[in-house]
Amino acid sequence: MRYGTDLLSQVDILRRTKEATILAIESSCDDTSAAVVKNGRQELALRISSQIDTHVEYGGVVPEIASRMHTEAICSQISSVLKDASIEPAQIDAVAVTAGPGLVGSLLVGVSYAKAYAYVLNKPLIAVHHIEGHISANYLDHPELVPPYLCLVVSGGHTMMIEVLDYGRYRVLGTTRDDAAGEAFDKGARALGLPYPGGKYIDQLAADGSTDSFVFPNAYVRGSMYDFSFSGIKTSLVQMIHKNASRDSQWIELHLKDLAASYQSAIVRSLVEVASRAIEKTGYRTLAIAGGVAANRCLREELNASAAALGATIFMPTVIHCTDNASMIGAAAYYRLLNGNVSGLDLNAVPSLPIDGDFK
Ligand code: KG4
Ligand code: ZN
Repeated sequence: MRYGTDLLSQVDILRRTKEATILAIESSCDDTSAAVVKNGRQELALRISSQIDTHVEYGGVVPEIASRMHTEAICSQISSVLKDASIEPAQIDAVAVTAGPGLVGSLLVGVSYAKAYAYVLNKPLIAVHHIEGHISANYLDHPELVPPYLCLVVSGGHTMMIEVLDYGRYRVLGTTRDDAAGEAFDKGARALGLPYPGGKYIDQLAADGSTDSFVFPNAYVRGSMYDFSFSGIKTSLVQMIHKNASRDSQWIELHLKDLAASYQSAIVRSLVEVASRAIEKTGYRTLAIAGGVAANRCLREELNASAAALGATIFMPTVIHCTDNASMIGAAAYYRLLNGNVSGLDLNAVPSLPIDGDFK
């Protein structure tokens, strides 16, 4: 769809003045979130409605339930966030939404709502890539962070070592060949009998456990500088449990904290190793991290230590901005807008799309 002259001139003015208050929507998985973000850096308000209490019963996200719950939550999330920000709908300069990747039914709720809202307000619509959102979460917490820099993306669905060349320009240096880091945490947690999503439970238990009680393989790939493979760590845990718990039904319970600490340490060790290699080999001295697993305390500590040893500066989002939230979408949308990267009302949800892919 082409923009009419009125919308085009609105985009021109916003790009020229660099002043934009953006209403952002995120509904790619199981959080219905809305935010108001000013100039890509200032969070005026953020609302997150989590569905996890419902999905926990099933041990994972049930896509049909997720879509239905987004539909039920989205209207009140938008009106509440505008109220929190003391903003009238007419004061919004643009509407942003995660258009992919994610669960298609969940994405469609946000995309349809954003299109309707942009149409009614006669404001530009900005489609945002979910992972670009995670990376941009850092802009909300660190005014001094500007591209170029390295970013380690560690979410429930993605694990990537990325070079952020500029706003909206990325080069993927490495990625996972199987599970994502978040999946490794969640599958390991499930094997240990912990609730979904298990990353934060492993994080908590590991705090009182020993990291050298059990040995797990590395998750970096031999012969590749920046790729990961987490399936071996998970298989190793499952086999260990199978061998020991079949002889002693109390085995997991007895060793839970040490298992959590050793398992977490193996995941973190590999992430830190690849991030350190990237700093050393590329010459960048700025590293950011992004995604739900960036909330992990051990990862944050180890990366801090390794960045300090390499003379690099590390940027991490605050914990609320690590997991899915709409503020990160508003931050990414601002820079898309400045690049003139706006979408029409024919925008569709895209369940899988590379970070350098195009929604149109
Ligand atoms: O980025 P995110 O909210 O959703 C996706 O885009 O996938 O990431 C969710 C992932 C889950 O796998 C969850 O277990 C993990 O982030 N996670 C953690 C922690 N908090 C969330 N993993 C390890 N330690 C944590 N503290
Ligand atoms: Zn996410």
